[in-house]
Amino acid sequence: MRRPLVIGNWKMHLGPRDAEALVRAVDEGRLSSNEAQAGVAPPYISIPAVSACLANSELLLCAQNMHQEEKGAFTGEVSAAMLTEAGVKMVLLGHSERRTLFGETDEQIGLKVAAAAARGLVPVLCIGETEEQRDRGETLEVVGRQLAAGLGDMPVSDGSELVVAYEPVWAIGTGRTATPEQVDEVHRAIRGMLTEHRGAVAAGGVRLLYGGSVKPGNARELFSLADVDGGLIGGASLEARSFLDILFAARTE
Ligand code: PGA
Repeated sequence: MRRPLVIGNWKMHLGPRDAEALVRAVDEGRLSSNEAQAGVAPPYISIPAVSACLANSELLLCAQNMHQEEKGAFTGEVSAAMLTEAGVKMVLLGHSERRTLFGETDEQIGLKVAAAAARGLVPVLCIGETEEQRDRGETLEVVGRQLAAGLGDMPVSDGSELVVAYEPVWAIGTGRTATPEQVDEVHRAIRGMLTEHRGAVAAGGVRLLYGGSVKPGNARELFSLADVDGGLIGGASLEARSFLDILFAARTE
């Protein structure tokens, strides 16, 4: 049984003061009966403030990125060890904004996934096709390539070590959500690919999140799909009420 997971990707929003206010509101608003797991991914600069608020909380602290090397002359970068020291448990890797705006390659993302896993961080490997790729009928090929390269030879045993987020690039921040049929097709395919790469037990334990214009109004339908185990939420995670409504839509009971 996979526990649903909903992560708020705050992107380049909310400095320490505003991040603290939002995480407090989210943490206080959770229902004790809610079995879905929630996480927030603040900008690096706000991680210590959020971490301090979450000392006695089940809310998972996530990061939006990291560098693959342990340390060294990499100006502006942060390592997996630094994130774990700050209380981070999961890290988004290969988000489409990292791929398109910052030139991250499949190869680099594979190195980051391996480095995160080696340090005990759970990588949230983000994959997804552009609109042109979908129009050319290449969606599953693109997603398959990104998945294989991102996984590399990272060991996966019961699946709890890895999260995969499917985010069609054309649905991110656009208000255009993929249809349940489109999401269902790709998520099933990803589960199948994971089974080929790592076997049925591992594949059955990996949580597959959908991301791309998830809102309180469409979350329940998307989360009800068999291979959707929650969501990666951008815009709608910046306000406590809408993030909580999405989180409640992922309840297991
Ligand atoms: P969105 O972003 O919910 O604003 O579309 C999702 C994401 O980029 O993870």
